[in-house]
This record gives sequence, C-alpha cells and structure tokens, in this order.
Amino acid sequence: MSEINGNYGGRITGWGIALGSETITNDDLASRMDTSNEWILERTGIKERRIGGSTAGLAVQAGQDALEMAGCKAEDIDLLILATTTPDDQIPATSGMVQHELGLTCGAMDLNAACSGFVYSLVTGFGFLKLGYKRVLIIGSETLSRVTDWEDRSTAILFGDGAGAVVIEAEEGNGCLLGWNLGCEGSLRDILYAEVGGKIIMAGKEVFRKAVIAMTDSAKSSIAAAGLSSNDISYVIPHQANIRIIESAMKRLGIAENRAVSVLQKTGNTSSASIPIALFKALNDGRVKSGDILLLVGFGAGMTSASAIIQWSESNE
Ligand code: COA
Repeated sequence: MSEINGNYGGRITGWGIALGSETITNDDLASRMDTSNEWILERTGIKERRIGGSTAGLAVQAGQDALEMAGCKAEDIDLLILATTTPDDQIPATSGMVQHELGLTCGAMDLNAACSGFVYSLVTGFGFLKLGYKRVLIIGSETLSRVTDWEDRSTAILFGDGAGAVVIEAEEGNGCLLGWNLGCEGSLRDILYAEVGGKIIMAGKEVFRKAVIAMTDSAKSSIAAAGLSSNDISYVIPHQANIRIIESAMKRLGIAENRAVSVLQKTGNTSSASIPIALFKALNDGRVKSGDILLLVGFGAGMTSASAIIQWSESNE
C-alpha cells in the first residue's frame, strides 16, 4: 500500500537496451529500392538500422538489464509503464506480456504517445513516485519494421526496432526531475499515421518542419520550468529521427551541436525506444558526470512532443 507523499522525487538507478537482431545497411536498402547510401546518409544521417524481434521480447531484454543494474528483484517494482506505438496485439496491452515475462507482480500499462512515449512515460512514472510508489520500470519498445512499407523509399529508410528501459526509484526531496513539458497538436494527425493493421504514411517535409518547432518549443518550456537557461544544459538526449532535425533544433536552442547525443547512425528511428537508447549511450560512455543537466526531448506522431530536464547525481551511479 502506498501513501501519497508529495515530498518524494526520484532517481534513475538502472538502465538497459535491446536492438533488433538483423542489421540492414543503406546498401541493403539500395539493392531493393531506388535509393543510395549517399542519399540516405546526407538527408538523414542514418547508416544502418536493426530489425527483428517482438515489442514484448525487446522490452523484456532491456527491462531485465535495467532491473539487474538497479539491483532490484521483480517483486520490488511497483508499476510497469511500457511506451509503445507498435504493440504486439490489439488486445491485450503488450505491457501485460512484459510484466509476465519479467516476473513482475505489479500493475502494468501501455502508453502510446508515439515517439514522445518514453518521456511521457518517464514523467508519468515520476508522478507515481509522488503518489507513493517506490520503484517504477519504464520501457520504450518498438517494432516499427512491422508497420513500415518496405516498398516506400521515403519511409523505409528511416525506421528500426529496439527498446530502452530505466528503473526510477523514490527518494526524499525533489529528486532528479527539475522540469518537464508534455504537448500534443492533435490537428496534425494526417502528416504521420498508420491505420489499424496498416503501414506508416508520412508527409516527410511537413513532419520535419513541425518536428523542429515542436522540439524547440517543448525544450524551452522545460528549461524555463526548471528555472534554467540553455547555457545550463550539459547534454541533449533528443529523439533520433533525422540528424538534420537534431542540428536545426540545437541551433534554435542555442546549444552547441556537440552537446547532442546521437545513435541514429546505427539504429535509425526507433520511436519511443530512441531516447532511452541514446541515454544509455551517454551514460555508458562515461561522458555524463555528477551534477550534469540532461535535456531529454522528443516529438512524434499525434503530433506529440515531450521533454524533461534531469540532473544527474552521484547516487545515480
Ligand atoms: N532515396 C532517394 N531519393 C529519395 C528518397 C530516397 N530514399 N526519398 C525521397 N527521395 C527523393 C524524392 O522523391 C524527391 O525527389 P524529386 O525532387 O524528384 O521529387 C527528393 O528525393 C527530395 O524529397 P524530399 O521528401 O523533399 O526529401 P527531404 O530532404 O525532405 O528528405 C525525409 C526526406 C523523409 C528524409 C525528411 O523529410 C525527413 O526526415 N522528414 C521527417 C521524418 C521524420 O522524422 N519522421 C518521424 C517522425 S517521429
């Protein structure tokens, strides 16, 4: 039983990722459709992507590693939030399968905010820590290869499969979440969608334009909510859709491009998995130090946007 205690914040104490089993290079795509490695690299920054596996299967792999790193047993977790826009079934929610496979005994739910799903889930998870839960497992997991039209060169080059997970744990005080912002512009549904059972349809140029604005606006709101300025941001962990989107957003935010963490060269766009995969890279290559301020920011179909400011501290390590 959990007592509401608004004085609790949280910390990220474990993290893990999983990627699709098969590597598809740009040259592999060029052998199947009218495109080239040069075009894809120049227009997107993507070199290869990983595909294969199920949304639940990838989520379980990433989740297991996150639990292990946090030193948690399955029964220690009070809630599972699975961000996905590619559930394995229409009914039930994929989180149920993940809950079962991980041996969790807690509640579980899917959250669909497309590529903003991980940050939406992270903020939701921190809310539950304030409501009295001690540990929440948050996973973004996607198998976009199943909803990609492999005949359509304007979308097939972009997407990949993967998962990223974090454990957040309650602690007294404000915790590491300093500011956040969640947004949605529902009128933009038609620029990026897939009907039930259908494939992704996208107006690429329009999505690009809106994405830069949505990302920048959301990031600015979170930075302001945290009482900070762009100069305070140590690293940006952006949604990994297109390197040119990241570069444009960084320019608008006035943050040096080398502060953005990118993994899309090797993963493509893995939707709600992309931010935790990039976070994993930043944490594991040792560049993030105690006291650093991280800006996690994403955008996606909906059109959704989300950002969170996280202050890293010794107790995360
Ligand atoms: N290979 C070669 N040529 C391609 C191509 C490909 N894979 N895809 C499109 N083209 C062609 C187009 O047919 C067009 O040819 P034309 O000038 O003869 O008509 C030309 O390249 C330019 O196409 P355009 O769509 O204007 O390219 P772009 O620079 O906007 O890049 C995207 C296309 C999709 C890479 C880019 O718009 C994008 O990344 N958009 C955002 C997508 C996104 O982030 N989605 C996920 C959101 S979560």
